[in-house]
Amino acid sequence: MKFVQPTTPYLIVITLFVTFFYHPSLAVTADLKPVNLRTEYKPNPVVDAAKPRLSWELTSAVRGQLQTAYQIRVASSPELLAADKADLWNSAKTSGSVTNQIEYAGKPMTSRTVCFWQVRSWDKTGQPGPWSSTATWEMGLLNKADWKADWIGNDLTALGKGNVYHLPPAPFFRKETQLKTAIKRARLYVTSLGLYEFQINGKRVGKDHFTPGWTDYNKRVYYQTYDVTADVKTGKNALGAIVSEGWYAGYLGYALLIGNPVVKNFYGDVPLLKAQLEIDYVNGEKETIATDQSWKTSHGPVLEADILNGETYNANLEFGDWSKPGFADVNWKNSTVYPDKAERKIEVYPGNQIQVFQELKAKTVTPKADGKYLFDLGQNFAGVVRLHVKGNKGDTIRLRFGEMLFPNGAIMTENLRKARAIDTYILKGNKEGETWTPKFTYHGFQYVEASGFKTAPGPDAITGIVLTSATPQAGSLETDNPMINKLYQNIVWTQRSNYFDIPTDCPQRDERLAWTGDAQAYIKSATFNNDIAPFFTKWLVDLNDAQRANHAYPLYAPAPNVRKTDTYSPGWSESGIVCPYTIYKTYGDTRVIRQFWPNMVAYLKFMEDKSKGEYVYKERSFEDISPKGGYGDWLSVGKKTPPDLLATLYYGYCASLMSEMAKAIGKSEESVYYEAIFNKIKQAFLNHYTDKTGQFKTDNAAYGDGEGYVIEGKSGFDGHTQTAYANAIYMHMLTPEHRQKAGNWLVDLIRENDNKLATGFLGLKALLPALSATGHAKEAYRLLLSTEYPSWGFEVINGANTIWERWNSYIKGKGFENNSGMNSFNHYAFGSVNEWLFGNAAGLRVGEAGYKTFTIRPEIATEGIGSVKATYHSINGLIETAWKKEGATISLKTTIPVNTTATVFIPTTNPATVLESAKALKTNPAIRVKEYKDGYLHVEMGSGIYQFTSQN
Ligand code: BGC
Repeated sequence: MKFVQPTTPYLIVITLFVTFFYHPSLAVTADLKPVNLRTEYKPNPVVDAAKPRLSWELTSAVRGQLQTAYQIRVASSPELLAADKADLWNSAKTSGSVTNQIEYAGKPMTSRTVCFWQVRSWDKTGQPGPWSSTATWEMGLLNKADWKADWIGNDLTALGKGNVYHLPPAPFFRKETQLKTAIKRARLYVTSLGLYEFQINGKRVGKDHFTPGWTDYNKRVYYQTYDVTADVKTGKNALGAIVSEGWYAGYLGYALLIGNPVVKNFYGDVPLLKAQLEIDYVNGEKETIATDQSWKTSHGPVLEADILNGETYNANLEFGDWSKPGFADVNWKNSTVYPDKAERKIEVYPGNQIQVFQELKAKTVTPKADGKYLFDLGQNFAGVVRLHVKGNKGDTIRLRFGEMLFPNGAIMTENLRKARAIDTYILKGNKEGETWTPKFTYHGFQYVEASGFKTAPGPDAITGIVLTSATPQAGSLETDNPMINKLYQNIVWTQRSNYFDIPTDCPQRDERLAWTGDAQAYIKSATFNNDIAPFFTKWLVDLNDAQRANHAYPLYAPAPNVRKTDTYSPGWSESGIVCPYTIYKTYGDTRVIRQFWPNMVAYLKFMEDKSKGEYVYKERSFEDISPKGGYGDWLSVGKKTPPDLLATLYYGYCASLMSEMAKAIGKSEESVYYEAIFNKIKQAFLNHYTDKTGQFKTDNAAYGDGEGYVIEGKSGFDGHTQTAYANAIYMHMLTPEHRQKAGNWLVDLIRENDNKLATGFLGLKALLPALSATGHAKEAYRLLLSTEYPSWGFEVINGANTIWERWNSYIKGKGFENNSGMNSFNHYAFGSVNEWLFGNAAGLRVGEAGYKTFTIRPEIATEGIGSVKATYHSINGLIETAWKKEGATISLKTTIPVNTTATVFIPTTNPATVLESAKALKTNPAIRVKEYKDGYLHVEMGSGIYQFTSQN
């Protein structure tokens, strides 16, 4: 699922091919070739948008190349397309440089239509390039009436055992069918309330896990579509499914931990299946085999299956070939049909399905006391294990999962809290050995403690299966500093572990909720690592489905009632604005803005009402929520920033983002309106939270004894903090002079604090960017490179291979400083430094949405780092920036995609020494030299690969 990043030789080969060998009848004169054709962000997907959005990227060997026009043709068959008979849509030659977010504008789409499409582009001289290769998309089931399938279930709740955990077995379903004649095409449309695995003729369908994904099942459920033409045959066929409770009926979050009256069954009690196999015969006939009461059901080897608590499997209860034709299901009973909810939508899954990313071999197997064995998989991750074991019938292997070991080598599971996270396998005693992988649970772990092996297992007994939402890799970052490289890899692993259908906070403990604060603090960082457009297209629906009756966005989404007092919080709820904005800015996606505009407007109104029309949140404005004031600068390690001051900054930030988003969708009046609100908030903030010199302050006495404020209100609040200045600068809440002063205070505060950061979740993401923005890149680098507590380096030198929830989650030689329940070793919030690594160290910043324009302004470290190389595959193509310092020479290589414009800031103390490919800039017409300022020579250029050097 990785983007294939076209390398230069590859481009050249394509170019040569296109230039010299392409069929001359097409009258191709330009080398501009569209590649990576996608629909709704995906290659050849199934979609249900009425007007799917198309995109492509362009390749060319010509510097400064761009598109002046394009033509899209869409046909209902490849033959028609090849014959230039675009029966669905022919856009004709359309001028413009746009290559993405282009809405299909042809004949109305109907369910099941397969569309074949191509595009060609005209280059800067007005010459057409070749047609692209053909891509497809397929329409899903657009109307509820297309669904013939019933919701079927088998109520096994009474079989649930256990005092603490009530876990019933997973029901199996099967249906045999006779397919009449030669089959042309077969599609399986399938979903469940709960999780499902579907099989046809003994074979698992698809590569996806945890389908159909988590939504507010009262409002909508997603389905998957599989092309199963190759899996069915004329004659007898069998369909089978196993269904488990999943997010629908299983345990969720910390409900059990905090004694919530409801701990499971948040959406329903009985997991249900809905599936239909649609057959198109060669002779033109059609047939649909759909779930109904005639499907047989039973329960067998899957004794328990729960996301948080694990899976128990008794291989002695296996059915054999239960999903193959001919299986004797006489003891199975008919399914029960359950009513549908009229208001529940059923839609195509818009995200990236969870899939296997990689397998991890055990690094070591260590015998422990009591005949237990400890497996080290070498990496903390989210997923499961595949167990391979040989033994006697009835032997029971029990697997416990931990992220870390105690200094004495024992597995640490305390931080799982009430997530039981135990998998159990009961052997059937197969002589050749037996292999088992659980289907409906996952864990966050590096270590597995196994009991029940009768003979010493080898490393092959346990294999790690890494699961993640299959977001295609988009970026990479490498420096000449191993610690920073490790930090970057830790960030990537943490994102991988937590982008799991929704952006979870952590994969291990009884939580795994998409906390909105974490999501908004990290989203920008995430964009650099992976293409998260589909992932957030999905989650933004969850977030808006969970918007509260008072229009506040929630603390987490989906938002089952795991704690009554979980309502909203400043810094968390703003996810409803910050995340759509980031998706818009990164991918040029204006649809998300339009889609959620009324919700966002309502939320801004909520914020305004909450400020009592004063445009500032004075002390104690959020006393009514729990914890008081909200989560504030969660897990900060220094002076406590008043939650209301921070909330005011966030309010201003949201107003400015609303103004920009309004403009992007052509709502100019609203844009002016929110700009005015932004200005009012800035003024009100200054009036209330700054003294005569502009220094930030708060009325600490107003908070009384600070009791009830989760961020240690009892130790008192102070406006003059790193977090307050960092955010005010980051959010453009200050005038230029005031901003500079704030930057200087920020540096003073860091120096006063022993050159250490003191920020929490909300302060951290803004900290380094704010330092850089006020000319203090040197301070930013100092914090980045520190290895003292609290710092990223401190985690790395203490052995981290993921980002930890707390800076001192573990200290070598000392153990767990915070070995309470809240000590996750896979928590991405502090990974938000990625935004600075790409945006400042490598220097890549988006300009016009979708990186249509961008800047590259690398910040050169004075020590500790001598080179930084970053790649980023934008929706407009591959961008690269790589700088290196060698003595007095700084080199900077940049790759600018076709059809984009970059402003590159070449670091130099002497602009006269700047060369590109060893030649003076003047001699290169592709490069427009702008000005020399603040130690950078600004140049502007179009596509190509540029090698700059400067002397310093
Ligand atoms: C989660 C956080 C979350 C927080 C709310 C924690 O338990 O793991 O990441 O944002 O609660 O403050």
